[in-house]
Amino acid sequence: MTDKYRPLKDAFGRFVTGIVVATCKDADGKLIAITVNSFTSVSLEPPLVLWCLDNRASTYSAFMGSDSYGISILRADQRTESDRFARYAGPPVTEAEVEYWNSGSPILKDRLAGFDCKVVARHDAGDHVILVGEVTKFDSAEGEPLIYFASNYIPDSE
Ligand SMILES: Cc1cc2nc3c(=O)[nH]c(=O)nc-3n(C[C@H](O)[C@H](O)[C@H](O)COP(=O)(O)O)c2cc1C
Repeated sequence: MTDKYRPLKDAFGRFVTGIVVATCKDADGKLIAITVNSFTSVSLEPPLVLWCLDNRASTYSAFMGSDSYGISILRADQRTESDRFARYAGPPVTEAEVEYWNSGSPILKDRLAGFDCKVVARHDAGDHVILVGEVTKFDSAEGEPLIYFASNYIPDSE
């Protein structure tokens, strides 16, 4: 079956992005993680970021019910984590892989940069919701980023 959105996805996909893992805890305290390339920085004062969550994602109600989220920017050697948290392969995130800063939301220990974010706005936008977060703590490290372009990681290791 042809994907009627393929031409639009192909055009959107010509914009190169990094990859982050957005994390939170659900109402039962279970760890939730999702691979995201819609992350962007928004404002320095106050420090704001955003990412867009698909209304149909299995993680939707967990993120909508959480007043905070963590963002972990992935390094080039973390493609396995990107696939894992896109539900393509491997187990869900474990407590051993995360740490906690201010908000109570988890952040991956292994990362290129991390942001602990308090949700300050949710905007409905078509089939996604835009989750705006105020950064309450962050860090960054030296390293190469995981890069995504035209539905592939760069360099494509396949
Ligand atoms: C490279 C990449 C980027 C993605 N970016 C987003 C995103 O920005 N927002 C989103 O809601 N889902 C995004 N997804 C999809 C989710 O990671 C996940 O695959 C989707 O929610 C399906 O999981 P589910 O079956 O648990 O709902 C992305 C997936 C990949 C592989």
